[in-house]
Amino acid sequence: MNAPDTIDDEATDKKRPHIIDGIGNLAGDGTRNCLTGMRPSGRLHLWHYKWALENWLKLQELPNIRNNFLIADYQVLGDHLGETERLRESVIDMVIDWMAIGLDPEKSNFIVQSYVPEFAELFNFLTMFAPYSVATNNPTLKDEMKKIELRDEWANASISLGFVNYPVSQVADIMLLRGEIVPVGEDQIPHIELARKIIKRVNTMYGTDFPLPRALISETPRLVGTDGNDKMSKSLGNTIYLTATLKEIKTQVNKMYTDPGKTNVEAKGNIEKHVAFQYLDIFYGNREHLAELKARYIAGGPGSVGDGEIKGLLVKVLEELIAPIRERREYFVQRPELVAEAIESGSKRAREEGQRILRELKGAMGLLDYGR
Ligand code: TRP
Repeated sequence: MNAPDTIDDEATDKKRPHIIDGIGNLAGDGTRNCLTGMRPSGRLHLWHYKWALENWLKLQELPNIRNNFLIADYQVLGDHLGETERLRESVIDMVIDWMAIGLDPEKSNFIVQSYVPEFAELFNFLTMFAPYSVATNNPTLKDEMKKIELRDEWANASISLGFVNYPVSQVADIMLLRGEIVPVGEDQIPHIELARKIIKRVNTMYGTDFPLPRALISETPRLVGTDGNDKMSKSLGNTIYLTATLKEIKTQVNKMYTDPGKTNVEAKGNIEKHVAFQYLDIFYGNREHLAELKARYIAGGPGSVGDGEIKGLLVKVLEELIAPIRERREYFVQRPELVAEAIESGSKRAREEGQRILRELKGAMGLLDYGR
């Protein structure tokens, strides 16, 4: 049997069969497995929300999608081995953030990668299926390797085999739970292509029918840091956390780059590199009002609007988004046992499923019950 490419609706781009264009296409009939994950690297910020979690929330509400959200605590060791003392806290912080935004362990499986050793077993097997040249000729991996080499504290450290292998381990994550839909950022597309190659080979060799996964790409444009830097990161201090206080939101918004040429409210403005407007583009639902504000900002004159008003609006918009998250977060911080239960029960379900699937695969390969 060959692998069915199960998601094949009208809207699928035939030239890019590994991509799903928009969540709208998924609401149809048929149960499908979704699998995605995050490396636990501490508290989440607005970019995580827009780039990933918002899609996860939508998927969670589709009754025909079985959602598996992976806490990739093995994968993160690939390039953060020296920070294991922070790992425990990062896992908890991340899961609390998931729950605070409304991900629900009753509806979706929260899975700790290391709680399900079958991921590691399948990964070990799949490494035989990944040609060395294909595995290492991966643009995202190469990019990340360069960054590790540049990182000060790691300057003398070599890149671990585990890191080079992480895309393959990700294939195992997807395959073990028969994931079809994989919501990820653009940068992860080479990994999805790798997954399809490997899974096709397995299916062809052993007559199995593991689905070929597809990436569900977030439609949100990249969110810049509050300083206008391409990347939001803790070390740059240009981040707005999902748990920011009103004061922190204000501080970050006030720092935002605008148009230095707009020296007073009535001066003509330029919004090209205007970070506050970029944020409003992403977070402000009232498109008409936004268009009007931009026009007035650019035009200048007595009817114009200044940075103070724009930033004030942005603070309000962000506070409306973040305040309820902050409040729910507090609830879970007081009840760590809820987090423990969520990840234990989700991992247990995944493990049972994974054990069954792995046994089937080993059966197809003839790897079971020698002498029986
Ligand atoms: N690589 C993902 C990240 O950057 C995490 C991840 C691990 C993942 N396993 C996965 C994503 C499987 C999608 C599918 O955080």
